[in-house]
Amino acid sequence: MSPALAFLGVSILGTWGLASIALIAGGIIMLFFPGDAQVDGDNVLGGIVMLLVGLGSMGAMLQVTMGPLLGMDPPLPTAAKKNVPASRLTRWVKAGLLRDFPDGTPKEVRLRSKRVLITRVGDTATAMSALCSHARLPLAGLPGSPVKPIALRDGCVTCPFHGAMFEADSGKVVRQPFDSAWNSAHPLLGGMQAPLFKLLSALPAPKYLKPSMEAETMQTYPVRIENGEIEVALPPK
Ligand code: FES
Repeated sequence: MSPALAFLGVSILGTWGLASIALIAGGIIMLFFPGDAQVDGDNVLGGIVMLLVGLGSMGAMLQVTMGPLLGMDPPLPTAAKKNVPASRLTRWVKAGLLRDFPDGTPKEVRLRSKRVLITRVGDTATAMSALCSHARLPLAGLPGSPVKPIALRDGCVTCPFHGAMFEADSGKVVRQPFDSAWNSAHPLLGGMQAPLFKLLSALPAPKYLKPSMEAETMQTYPVRIENGEIEVALPPK
């Protein structure tokens, strides 16, 4: 990369970061330290909007900069209509020994560059895309962070970010993200992020640029066990 291009990139990110911090700081000042100004309904609303826009902007900037470094995809929904039907999943790929997968807790593996979530239950296993259809965040959580994979419950995989639940074998949604039970049990990833997602999804921007409040049916993959080893059927190259 040329030095001029690198300088331009750093300048843009620096300005973006400073603008986000200014919005967050402005929102906090309007809400909590209004000085001599009278705190009326307009000030409170203005403060909340500035704070949410600032947090959204900061989150987007971190996503753009840190996402690729952490191997994360843009936090945009995946449409069920893009799922490949089982009849076209014909390329069997070895995923590892059954005994190396924890019983009842999903684990992510990379198969031919695809991120696949394997969930073993005893001598059986299921496989689905490792990225949640709500915002393409990893269903197995982030390694080394407090966001860990959640044990299978009633045959369903739970997304550790916003709580969407999917049937492990069919990929069908059984609970949408930001369910009230999830939000009250997870103030940071549920209670605080729900209004932020709602605000960003209501912004006047093209649909493909906006986060969604809903999850769709996940891509699942056929699985077979051969000599104690899990094999997953992927789409042909
Ligand atoms: S990314 Fe999974 S519920 Fe939001």
